[in-house]
Amino acid sequence: MENDFILVLDFGGPQAQSMARKLRGQNYYCEVHPCSIGLDTIRRKSPKGLLLAGGPSDRPFDAEILRLGIPVLAMGFSARSMAKAMGAVCEGALLTDRASQITFLPCPLFEGLGESDRYFDRIDALKLPEGFEPIATTVEGLMPAFASFQAQLYGLQFYAESNDPDGARILANFAGTICGCSAYWSPEFYIDRETRYLRDRIGDSRALMAISGGVDSTVCAMLMRRAIGDQLRCVFVDTGLLRKGEVETVSHAFRDHLGLELTVVDARDRVLRALSGVTDPQEKRRRIQDEYVCIMQEEAEAYPDTRYLVEGTIYSDLLSGETGDPGAQFSLTRIEPIRMLFKDEVRFVGETLGVPRELLSQQPFPGPGLAIRCIGEVTAEKLFLLREADAIFRAEIVEAGLDRRLTQFFAILTDVQTAGMRNGYPCAEYACALRAVSATDAANVTIAKLPYDLIERVVQRITSQVPGINRVLYDVTGKPSALTEWE
Ligand code: XMP
Repeated sequence: MENDFILVLDFGGPQAQSMARKLRGQNYYCEVHPCSIGLDTIRRKSPKGLLLAGGPSDRPFDAEILRLGIPVLAMGFSARSMAKAMGAVCEGALLTDRASQITFLPCPLFEGLGESDRYFDRIDALKLPEGFEPIATTVEGLMPAFASFQAQLYGLQFYAESNDPDGARILANFAGTICGCSAYWSPEFYIDRETRYLRDRIGDSRALMAISGGVDSTVCAMLMRRAIGDQLRCVFVDTGLLRKGEVETVSHAFRDHLGLELTVVDARDRVLRALSGVTDPQEKRRRIQDEYVCIMQEEAEAYPDTRYLVEGTIYSDLLSGETGDPGAQFSLTRIEPIRMLFKDEVRFVGETLGVPRELLSQQPFPGPGLAIRCIGEVTAEKLFLLREADAIFRAEIVEAGLDRRLTQFFAILTDVQTAGMRNGYPCAEYACALRAVSATDAANVTIAKLPYDLIERVVQRITSQVPGINRVLYDVTGKPSALTEWE
């Protein structure tokens, strides 16, 4: 099965990853690499097919990849890049941002597809080189797809992964029929292969893992437990930057639902000390990370037969280069059992491992926790106010049944104290803000239009039940103009 996969070459934009997810959703395994990946690497990996995805970009790629004898499917802008590299002449756009009826000509790529309207970002007029022919036409006589059957090169001028009703089918036809890949990729397959690998690799040694209570580390811990049982030790660091009740909820959930015992390390004082006087958000992140590394190092030293450090890095972290790097500073060997999984696959694997739904549908919570939602210097007093206000807001959202429709909802404590009255006396207390958002993708987040009476109730509860906060703001700014987090 070594080379039974598709290699997705990323030409920029979100398409490569969404295409890869769709392909894996059809049970075909694929890996995403930058389009600049060397010819030798491709030869060594020897995939059964290449998918060129994304753009627009002038990213250089070695046109020799089109002559390796491996079938290639290029989509959108990269289809134009491929055509040009093979000698086609592009005479400009003929159709942009429009739907049109498409007719598919006989081609294994389109097996089982019906004729219907498709949305096109853009179709260019291409004068094809010898050996190439159209494999689809529109009612206007345009050519949205072309191929050279002899060279096994296929180009689609539309994005099958995002705006085509049969996108998944086209990708599956390419992987299965054209490249001869087998559809073996599934949560069960992954669990089985990974647990065998982990058992072999770890043997009788012990592994240490930091739990955050989030989806990734939870699923990762369950996979590890399946592989090595009691040789895994899970540590949950109470940084003091967690939400109200989180330590208890996570500890119970792990023990009662997952059968995993957590060692809770109380690091509240030392983390607060490390953050003393710090106002810069990136410096806060750095100090928390450094403290985390020290704590985990101490935990590892407490059990000298510990050889491995488990991390819940996932595939999107890897592709965006956002891997935390604590392992590099450890004496332990790092293992990342879910590093090849996309977020939705992490959830499927979790479901298959018996992780309860509530744990798999949690909202994301940043690693630095409340420190980056407590604007300015982080103090015990400010954290207390933030935790209380946040708990009230979250409880009201859940009570109103809105939690499932939102990706994140939380409170932020501003560093501004404003004028008000408490118990009949003038006071200057903090203003806090509420943020509730739905993410369409990582780059775009829309704000939730919460019912006004809900907001009023939250404001009333926070200002009366949390002395120290006398003003509440509702953040109505979407992303990208404002990031999800304030810091
Ligand atoms: P932004 O603020 O960029 O955040 O819209 C995107 C997502 O990432 C989370 N986030 C973080 N997660 N460490 C994390 O582990 C961080 O430093 C961090 N900053 C933001 C944020 O909550 C959102 O889900």
